[in-house]
Amino acid sequence: MTGQKIDGIAVANSVKERTRAAVSELKKEGIDTCLATVLVGDDPASAQYVTSKQKDCADVGIATKDHRLPQNFIQKEIEELVNLLNNDDTVHGILVQLPLPSQINEFSVIAKISPLKDVDGLTPYNVGLLSSGRSLLKPCTPSGIMELFDYYKIDISGKHAVIINRSNLVGKPLYHLMLEKDATVTTCHSRTNDLEKFCQEADIVVTAVGNRAKFTLTEEMIKDGAVVIDVGTSRLDGKLAGDVDYDNVIKKASYVTPVPGGVGPMTRAMLLKNTVTAASISKGIATQR
Ligand code: GUN
Repeated sequence: MTGQKIDGIAVANSVKERTRAAVSELKKEGIDTCLATVLVGDDPASAQYVTSKQKDCADVGIATKDHRLPQNFIQKEIEELVNLLNNDDTVHGILVQLPLPSQINEFSVIAKISPLKDVDGLTPYNVGLLSSGRSLLKPCTPSGIMELFDYYKIDISGKHAVIINRSNLVGKPLYHLMLEKDATVTTCHSRTNDLEKFCQEADIVVTAVGNRAKFTLTEEMIKDGAVVIDVGTSRLDGKLAGDVDYDNVIKKASYVTPVPGGVGPMTRAMLLKNTVTAASISKGIATQR
């Protein structure tokens, strides 16, 4: 059996198409959807991510306000900026690019973002809603993965899902989203004993390790017909690589996401969708699920 490649670019394009339409609807209501981005420090990868997010916004008609702050900015100054953006009616979404420099308490900065503008779904309020099954703005990577399941009509109800990641951005929110759709979810991580055994028993494996040199999900680690979602990104021999040995795993799995072209484009598309949701919330309109 050879599995099917999950085409994240195609699904992301369909999300972007719907988002573009929602942005024009909001324009007709006099709302110019706007995302404020905050980048602290000079990490080139983070700068690249923010630039890409701004380009994606432009692509669907969302305006952006760019805030780039020096590496030595202090906690209070960042929190003051967040506060200004919270109170700026022309800004609908706030994205603080992570990680923040080590002198900054990341949790405290995130907690200052208005939950209604929290397009990353990371504020304590939104995390609480998500874990209560009443999410409003959801973290982009996990909600992008849920969108892939929907698009490919992969029914996760009753299935055993293993997530190899326990971060606030991916593993924990995905746990709640999959549980909400009636999957039986196991969270694995760097200290899990016998990770291979968990993977072999899973109907769905979501891997987000991101260190291909140290960890590869191989075909021996999955069962026949498993769905494999690869969130990992790392460099291998100078090339972008996921966690999964794609060419061999696809021969045994039912569906696999490639890297690049799988989860990555979905993460980017869901940020746009969240920004439109935030703009809609600001006017008491709910345009999208
Ligand atoms: N850094 C890596 N991924 C993300 C993300 O999804 N959101 C933010 N704000 N920072 C990140």
